[in-house]
Amino acid sequence: MNVLVERFRRFFDASKFDMRSRDARALQCTTFSYTYCRIILGTARRPIDYEILDANDAFASLLGLKAKDVVGHRASDFFLDIAVTERRWLEVYARVSETGKAEEYEAHSPSFDRWFRLSVSSPEKGLFVIISSDISKEVEFRREKDQYLQVLETIHKPLYVCDARSIIMSANPAFCELIGYAAEELRGKPAHFLSADRSAYLNYGFPEHYFDSLARRFSSIPTEKKDQQGDFLLRKKNGSLCWVMLSAYPLLDEMGTVRQIVCFPEDVTEIRKRENDSLTRLYETLANLAELRDDDTGNHMKRIGYFAALLARELGMDEKFCKDIALFAPLHDIGKVGIPDAILRKTSELTVEEYDTMKKHTTLGYEIVKGTQELSMAAEIILHHHERFDGAGYPTGLMGYAIPVSAQLTSLVDIYDALRSERPYKEAWAHEVVVKYIAEQQNQAFCPEIVETFLLIERKFAEIYEDFRE
Ligand SMILES: [Fe+2]
Ligand SMILES: [Fe+2]
Repeated sequence: MNVLVERFRRFFDASKFDMRSRDARALQCTTFSYTYCRIILGTARRPIDYEILDANDAFASLLGLKAKDVVGHRASDFFLDIAVTERRWLEVYARVSETGKAEEYEAHSPSFDRWFRLSVSSPEKGLFVIISSDISKEVEFRREKDQYLQVLETIHKPLYVCDARSIIMSANPAFCELIGYAAEELRGKPAHFLSADRSAYLNYGFPEHYFDSLARRFSSIPTEKKDQQGDFLLRKKNGSLCWVMLSAYPLLDEMGTVRQIVCFPEDVTEIRKRENDSLTRLYETLANLAELRDDDTGNHMKRIGYFAALLARELGMDEKFCKDIALFAPLHDIGKVGIPDAILRKTSELTVEEYDTMKKHTTLGYEIVKGTQELSMAAEIILHHHERFDGAGYPTGLMGYAIPVSAQLTSLVDIYDALRSERPYKEAWAHEVVVKYIAEQQNQAFCPEIVETFLLIERKFAEIYEDFRE
């Protein structure tokens, strides 16, 4: 990537492409050369030379001379083999002197090895006036710009270029293909019009302030003049999202002002999905680990995830919350890895001391996952899934709406599933019996709104339970 950027920095040296900068100033300073000449014809009236009747210093200085040194001389006194090397030029001079019709053209002079823009006119047959300016720098400028455009077109990596206000100036075919817009549709638009909105970032699992800090960092490029890199969610023309790792490089002019920002958006949708999948598998492994310690729970963990997400969605929680709870609710009993088998697998009733030890699976589990942003929901579920709405739960005795929603949901679905299942110390309860029990627990174990929502979709719980019985 760095090689590419360096190549760009070279081509993109803003001073070469900005008409307000160095080359433009050089062009403005160019003085016009003037020569007044008589054409000299050879056999068959072919032009072979010309005599300089008058000239200005600007012309003479091209030869390292003063005007007085060239006036009265023939061109062939200064240019070797002029009839051959400057044949094309001589033909124009002869034509204009003959027809009296002025001509303008741009050409490379082999004698000076420079490019000139010429205007040739004839005041009288046989005589001609040349007004010319040196456009070598302008030609070089155009050639480099063409080269740059060619590079832009042929680079297979998606890329687009913005000005300092983040207005898109150009986009290459690879980027157009990625995003679904034609280059003309992008040109002149602010780059942020391609970004998905804040809620999409949240749904994809980016933390709360990610979107704002990302926007802040990238909008600071013109002032900070530093490269920036970050994950963006782009909204394609067809509405779908594309996850890119965007590297933006400011290109400075000779005054140190940011003129352009060249942006390489690398499509990482598949990579990030794979990373997410392996993270999900890791969480599942952790949940299975906890399940292994607990006897006879079969598909308990899997069902807990489905139930919790179902209930969360019905409650109107956002997509990110629903995805997370599906992932993290199954981890609620992970702390059981720290509870001795003698207590965990005991089939008779626990003593008070044993029950106190058992309760510690909440705080033990919390200790395992606390402190990381990605696992913050897991931490609150693990710590609080045995709290009760009336405050009689453990370990903190939180009550009512102070209990995190994720933990309240997990608590309800955990109890639904535990009651439906057969355990060494109890029979399996029928779905209807469990629904009745949960309905009775409004304001006691559970939040009334959550219970009401559960009652709206309780049939789906029965279906999921049957589908994932073992
Ligand atoms: Fe538990
Ligand atoms: Fe459980």
